[in-house]
Amino acid sequence: MNDRTLFEKAVHDNAFRTLISKEELATRIRELGLEITKDYRGKDPIMIGVLNGSFVFISDLVRAVELDLEIDFLKISSYGNERSSSGRVQMLKDINADIAGRHVIIVEDIVDTGLSIKFLQEKLSALNPASLKFVTLLMKKDIAKVDFEIDYIGFDIPNEFVIGYGLDHKQILRNLPAIYVMD
Ligand code: IMP
Repeated sequence: MNDRTLFEKAVHDNAFRTLISKEELATRIRELGLEITKDYRGKDPIMIGVLNGSFVFISDLVRAVELDLEIDFLKISSYGNERSSSGRVQMLKDINADIAGRHVIIVEDIVDTGLSIKFLQEKLSALNPASLKFVTLLMKKDIAKVDFEIDYIGFDIPNEFVIGYGLDHKQILRNLPAIYVMD
């Protein structure tokens, strides 16, 4: 049958290799939530999700954090429909919150080249937050060039193109429940 959706092929036909299962995601996100809860007790942080890719991760992560936290979003340009970085990052939607003096946690789906996270670090640290930390669900550590510490990392992954759990292929497949490798 060639009228099957890519979603069906991924979930029902094992067309793509599962890299991280639903269960592994849930376990690791619970751990990250506990760590953040411990580190930020008494600080009322603001978590900022980087759209579009982080929307699934942040929705699970915030429910694993037992604090009075605020949530905001920003959107930056990344690959468009390409699989490799264009090398330029632009702010497409800025945050609404005033983060001066606040404890800020940026939530990313994946650090690939590191360009996006470097852009955000420069941009947001200029707004004088009390502290600025980064969470990423996935990190391609062999290729990411980041000259500062990423405070919370879900999983180190090899340099492969991944989809699902918020990550897209040509803007689709973000709704897959696990992380798959698209060969
Ligand atoms: P950067 O190269 O670290 O700047 O990553 C930029 C953005 O590209 C990430 O936030 C993702 O949205 C996207 N991206 C990078 N690697 C992948 C991948 O393997 N699958 C899907 N999207 C990716």
